[in-house]
Amino acid sequence: MQPHQLNPVIEPQFEAVNQYILNHLHSGVPLVEKIGHYIVESGGKRIRPLLVLLAANAAEYKGEDHISLAAVIEFIHTATLLHDDVVDNSELRRGNDTANAKWGNAPSVLVGDFLYSRAFQVMVEIGSMDVMQVISNATNIIAEGEVLQLLNAKNPDTTEDAYMQVILGKTAMLFEAATESGAILANASQEQREALRLYGRHIGIAFQIIDDVMDYLSTAEEMGKNVGDDLAEGKATLPLIHAMREGNEEQRQLIRQAIRKGGLEDLQPIMDIVHSTGSIEYSRNTAYAEADKAIQVLDALPESSFKETLKQLADLAVKRKS
Ligand code: IPE
Ligand code: IPE
Ligand code: MG
Ligand code: MG
Repeated sequence: MQPHQLNPVIEPQFEAVNQYILNHLHSGVPLVEKIGHYIVESGGKRIRPLLVLLAANAAEYKGEDHISLAAVIEFIHTATLLHDDVVDNSELRRGNDTANAKWGNAPSVLVGDFLYSRAFQVMVEIGSMDVMQVISNATNIIAEGEVLQLLNAKNPDTTEDAYMQVILGKTAMLFEAATESGAILANASQEQREALRLYGRHIGIAFQIIDDVMDYLSTAEEMGKNVGDDLAEGKATLPLIHAMREGNEEQRQLIRQAIRKGGLEDLQPIMDIVHSTGSIEYSRNTAYAEADKAIQVLDALPESSFKETLKQLADLAVKRKS
């Protein structure tokens, strides 16, 4: 079952978001529409827009603007992916060639800019200064998070704290903005808004840790992305940070060298070390703990089917296979 099918009230709203996204990709420049449709129709999970819908409904929103707000969040996410695949030199996304592999870096960056700015056009139509504040801050911090990650690349001394700071910025901020802005639309109390914000933050952290685990565990068929992309770029993600801490001297040096060099030469031995040092388990447990925190903070919300779906989603975020 797809996540949006977890709740029958949400399903038609989710369809409306998809329709809204397609209706708002129009551009007078054919290549913009071509790349925009290519990436948008390539089958992303749409988990962030789903969070907007669930947060707004959980806070008892009765209007229609959560549909376009959900589209705003997905546009921003899609823009970050176009840019991210350029900086990560990635060739596979959602089971297809990345836009940069197909059309080159320049069109990918520029269409990413188009999607960012389309998101802001739609947000202005929604007209909530509080929503604009949350989402513009998040977008700014995502950019910082990606730059911070770039600064840490190829550095085997990257600490777990530094890693957490990167994923909070590059990933969790958008999850947090999704749920908090949904709460704002619904005019939620300060307490409920804070609960939904924190829910987004914790599930976002969990989601990224699992993404980083899959990079050493999954297959390209399952993930729709190439295995080893993180190692290829010399990213010290949580599985490697733990493996360097727990491995013997020889193992530690192999990983340190691989991070310094980047590339996939040592992928297989490093995968073996990541497994034998319990680093998959450690990373997963860290993600599970974040998902638990996400579930706990929901106590501040009234009982509803939406709150239950949010709980199920926290669980799915850590048990997912793609
Ligand atoms: C990919 O996000 C980027 C990360 C934060 C790991 P998703 O896994 O939500 O990507 P799509 O939208 O479903 O392709
Ligand atoms: C995800 O970064 C965060 C953003 C796209 C801003 P990653 O580089 O870890 O995500 P994938 O693995 O390419 O989806
Ligand atoms: Mg990437
Ligand atoms: Mg990744």
